[in-house]
Amino acid sequence: MIFICTMRSAILLLFLPLTKAFSLQASSSARPSTSLSAYNEVDRRSAILQGSTTAGFALSSLLLSPNEVSALQDYDDSAKKRILITGSNSGIGMDAAQRMALRGHEVVLACRTLNKANEAADKIKTMIANDADDAVAAISTIKSLKLIPMECDLADLSSIDTFVKQNSGAKFDAVCYNAGIARNTEAKDVARTKQGFELTVGTNHLGHFYLNQLILPSIKDNGRIVVTASGVHDPDSPGGAQGVPATLGDLAGLEKAAAGDGKFDMVDGGAFNADKAYKDSKLCNVLFTRELQRRLDEKGSNIKANCFNPGLIVVSLTKRGQFTKPLLGTGLFRDQNQLFTKVFDVAATKLLKVGETTHWGGGALEYMTLSSNVGKQGGMYYTSPPGSSKYGEDAFGREFKLSQVSKEAKSSDDGKAKRFWELSEKLVGV
Ligand SMILES: NC(=O)c1ccc[n+]([C@@H]2O[C@H](COP(=O)([O-])OP(=O)(O)OC[C@H]3O[C@@H](n4cnc5c(N)ncnc54)[C@H](OP(=O)(O)O)[C@@H]3O)[C@@H](O)[C@H]2O)c1
Repeated sequence: MIFICTMRSAILLLFLPLTKAFSLQASSSARPSTSLSAYNEVDRRSAILQGSTTAGFALSSLLLSPNEVSALQDYDDSAKKRILITGSNSGIGMDAAQRMALRGHEVVLACRTLNKANEAADKIKTMIANDADDAVAAISTIKSLKLIPMECDLADLSSIDTFVKQNSGAKFDAVCYNAGIARNTEAKDVARTKQGFELTVGTNHLGHFYLNQLILPSIKDNGRIVVTASGVHDPDSPGGAQGVPATLGDLAGLEKAAAGDGKFDMVDGGAFNADKAYKDSKLCNVLFTRELQRRLDEKGSNIKANCFNPGLIVVSLTKRGQFTKPLLGTGLFRDQNQLFTKVFDVAATKLLKVGETTHWGGGALEYMTLSSNVGKQGGMYYTSPPGSSKYGEDAFGREFKLSQVSKEAKSSDDGKAKRFWELSEKLVGV
């Protein structure tokens, strides 16, 4: 085992120059379980129990192998849920939407434009039709799907306003903050959201922060909030160790922006670095999750907020919104050099075997949203050792489980996370 690890490290070292350009990858640290200081006692039993509980039935058998279906047994689908997923027209979000819709839940596809959301609903149906052996069963399944396409551009607060107003009726059982953008790691220009925030943190954190503030009253009291974070939030993880590591410093960039015109280039006030901005945005996701849970607990709410790392999923889309292989790729690497992306993909998935599949990423989001073992506690971070998708769905709750957040995320519980929250409030104006 040690020999294999050493070999892997040696191969990884060979690829270091390549991986540097892709440090937005999500390799996990696979540390031993513990977490938030206020939630130090990780429920290890829950992780062990997950492989053994029974129940369940899945319409998703249309798409999954018998082995996968049996491992999905701890999901209680008897009460149909209303689930919101941001960024569900592509990658992890779209796969998770398909999975959960196939279980009979209503899924609101919250996408950058209504057109993209409509296309996502069509693609999900087409995939089911293409994969089915039994055309009649497929037609009836497709007819039964409850997919609600909607526009929600996280880079524009007014679009989020409209989205929330349109959703003031029925309450959500679960809300998944999954959308994310990663700019080309070499980008030098600071792209901005409609309101002038740096685009990466503005979308991945502030867009979701604002959405959360507005939509919280529309989440059921025993509901869930799931945040798609990443291993790169942690400089001690393999992915997070490449390039300039994530740090929010003393929040100088946000402090200055909140006291001034609202514009910032980097959260820590440093010079713009596109690669670090992505890692920082994922650290923001983790701080947000923990501070949100602290606030929910303070209010006596039963809502549980947790975040997770889906792992490294490279297979890229050629152009924005266009799939090279339907539902097989994520678009996260689409702004990177495509030649490097392809080489990196082969290296990560075929050679080093540290890459995951999009279906795995969707399964991780589904597990976080529906598994009866996840929602018992909040403020937690889940991840898995690199390459865990080779174990199939059985890995959810076994390899994919509670883990530690980065040192900075943990130490932020003492006050930085609170200030980070206050500054986020000021910036989005809530
Ligand atoms: N792939 C990985 O290796 C990896 C690893 C760790 C974590 N993650 C995280 O996983 C999440 C999903 O990413 P993915 O890998 O599935 O990549 P993806 O296929 O590119 O999905 C990202 C989604 O976010 C959406 N999005 C981006 N900006 C948006 C905006 N302003 N408003 C609304 N939606 C917006 C994208 O929509 P458009 O198509 O309109 O841009 C897309 O649907 C992200 O949070 C990412 O950080 C991914």
